[in-house]
Amino acid sequence: MAQLETYITEHENGFLEDLKGWLRIPSISTLPEHAGDIRSAAAYAVEQLKRIGFDNAGLIETQGHPLVYAEWLKAPGKPTVLIYGHYDVQPVDPVNLWNSPPFEPTIRDGNIYARGACDDKGQTMLVFKALESLMAAHGALPVNVRVLIEGEEEAGGESIEHYVKTYPERLKCDAALICDTHMPAKDIPALITGLRGIIYTEVEVHGAKRDLHSGSYGGVAPNPLHALAIIISHLKDVDGHIHIPGLYDKLRKPTHEEKEFWQHDPLHINESLREEMGVSQLSGELEYPPLERISARPTLEVHGIVGGFTGEGAKTVIPAVAKAKISLRLPADLKSKEVFILFERAVKEVAPPDVTVTVHHLHGGEGILVSPGSPAIDAAIAALKESYGKDPVFLREGGSIPIAALFYEKLGVPVVLIGFGLPDDNLHAPNEKYSLDQFFKGIRTIANFLQKMGQ
Ligand code: BES
Ligand code: MN
Ligand code: MN
Repeated sequence: MAQLETYITEHENGFLEDLKGWLRIPSISTLPEHAGDIRSAAAYAVEQLKRIGFDNAGLIETQGHPLVYAEWLKAPGKPTVLIYGHYDVQPVDPVNLWNSPPFEPTIRDGNIYARGACDDKGQTMLVFKALESLMAAHGALPVNVRVLIEGEEEAGGESIEHYVKTYPERLKCDAALICDTHMPAKDIPALITGLRGIIYTEVEVHGAKRDLHSGSYGGVAPNPLHALAIIISHLKDVDGHIHIPGLYDKLRKPTHEEKEFWQHDPLHINESLREEMGVSQLSGELEYPPLERISARPTLEVHGIVGGFTGEGAKTVIPAVAKAKISLRLPADLKSKEVFILFERAVKEVAPPDVTVTVHHLHGGEGILVSPGSPAIDAAIAALKESYGKDPVFLREGGSIPIAALFYEKLGVPVVLIGFGLPDDNLHAPNEKYSLDQFFKGIRTIANFLQKMGQ
């Protein structure tokens, strides 16, 4: 124990430098022009794992971006932990709102600012550093470890899904660890018990064969933009209810304890949410507590609409085409493929008859609800308690990590979701940051968790 702590304390600066080096690589998975950076970021992870002493560390080529794999299986009789993270990041626009350039990691007020600082390079690097510290201090790891890091998480994660489904035996393990979630506050550790699934769609509406003069044709021409507005307004009403027939049918009732927790709101999430968003009232389904709405209810959001004239000044045109990106978040009971069929049907049903509508399924993934009571979950609870001096809260989060459900289902193992992000880390937004305290506490917590798994 003392050796471990000494190693961590003496190497904090080096850990941070290694994180900075990774953050300097703009590994944006959704933009084709960054394909080279994606490979550099993958290679950087391989280098880290080799240096720690992992075997078979290398890239696994896929149809998309490469996976990073490494293993250390020299603890006979001990459990095997599968560690997951992602080295890809979200785009950085609007870049003018960043206080320091997104790929020049900068430390201010105890935080490191950069795209990926938290999601998920910071959180993945801290797991690497826990492994490095254990290996350096003891010459071995307390458990067997497989590491699988992907580069497409922010882009739908098709390649890892294919890999896990095709080669489950290569990932044989007793538990999976995913460090890609949050705590509600810096002094409130959390074990995440559930994540939502997602379907991400594009609705494409076509009217006339070309753009039209609105004076000559207005009165007889179909307007795809207006049709899109009608479709969208039918799908969700002002009270936040989604009007997709059948959507709520399979939604299971939450447990009494969960209901109580959401209603009671001991962490004062209601207030923090208003503050974080800078709004005076919360939107959505008023009859459900906010905590339930952000984690356990289905949601429908429009992310963007394009079509027609948006330049400066005026142009009297009736557009021929309009498109909208629309997604739904799905509690674990709702399956993405089934919901897509319901969604497509609902869109076509409410679409005006004078336009043609196509619904594209861009990507999807399942939610997860983790059952309590496994040695891995118990080890995580104990490690969090020792680091933060209090029992962790059990929380569902509303975001999606599709691979979590796949590990759960295809590998049949408990999935430990613990992360050290904070609510104001600005994921996917300008000025993403990660708290240095959380980074170093995370290293100690994960090292402790792995030691407990080995006992
Ligand atoms: N780390 C997030 C998921 C997350 C966010 C979990 C907040 C818990 C709280 C992950 O990188 C992410 O952004 N996932 C995408 C998935 C999608 C692209 C399939 C998401 O949730 O939008
Ligand atoms: Mn992430
Ligand atoms: Mn993300």
